[in-house]
Amino acid sequence: MRKQIAAANWKMNLSHHEADSLLDQLLATEHHLSSNQAVIFAVPAIYIPLAVQKLNGKPNIFVAAQNCHQKANGAYTGEIAASMYASVGVHHIILGHSERREFFAESDTLLAEKTEAVLTIGSTPIFCCGEPLEIREAGTQNSFVEAQLKNALFQLSADQIVKVVIAYEPIWAIGSGQTPEPHKINSIHEMIKDVVQSRFSNIGLDSVLYGGSVNSSNAAALFEEDEIDGALVGVASLDGKEFAEIANILNDLT
Ligand code: PGA
Repeated sequence: MRKQIAAANWKMNLSHHEADSLLDQLLATEHHLSSNQAVIFAVPAIYIPLAVQKLNGKPNIFVAAQNCHQKANGAYTGEIAASMYASVGVHHIILGHSERREFFAESDTLLAEKTEAVLTIGSTPIFCCGEPLEIREAGTQNSFVEAQLKNALFQLSADQIVKVVIAYEPIWAIGSGQTPEPHKINSIHEMIKDVVQSRFSNIGLDSVLYGGSVNSSNAAALFEEDEIDGALVGVASLDGKEFAEIANILNDLT
């Protein structure tokens, strides 16, 4: 069943005090999310207890992690396992964000392991894919994204793939103020769903989100598209009013 999601990705931003105030501001906005909608906050790991304490118990609002380690435990100084997040009430984990791929050299092979690790403990990966500018300029974005999906997700079982949320984020659109036209994003989302169906016949993905310069001015046009099931929002999620407005636009879709 289609699941619509507005997800905030705070990245490595905000002091504890700022995080606290932003969460309060967001909580002041009433949402009436239906059961097939969710608002998710991917906050820096150190603020997870704060966010969980403030948000847990609010219907259809969840706290997420921005990354995890691929192993269940062990001597990996500074790392956090998916099960540790689950143990503090966090069951959504962003994986393969382009910043992790670029600055931390995360490969498709590593992301296949991380995806498996998250699913194994019953949590939900928000798996990011998307092409850099030179690929878009060459017009080969479909095959680029297809390869990312095949390399990282095709080893999963049918039972596992249905639990994955995919976020399509063209790298050139992230933080740039540029977004592809909504119908063009829609057709890439169609392609993503087709690629998954080509491997897992009769399995439909519940959510393919779009990310890259989403804000309260362009969200409505994006969410109107049939295959855009929500958004992963960076910069605009650091502004309480902006993000609350995006969540409201999602909310009004029902
Ligand atoms: P942006 O970031 O909204 O600032 O473009 C999106 C993301 O990186 O997930």
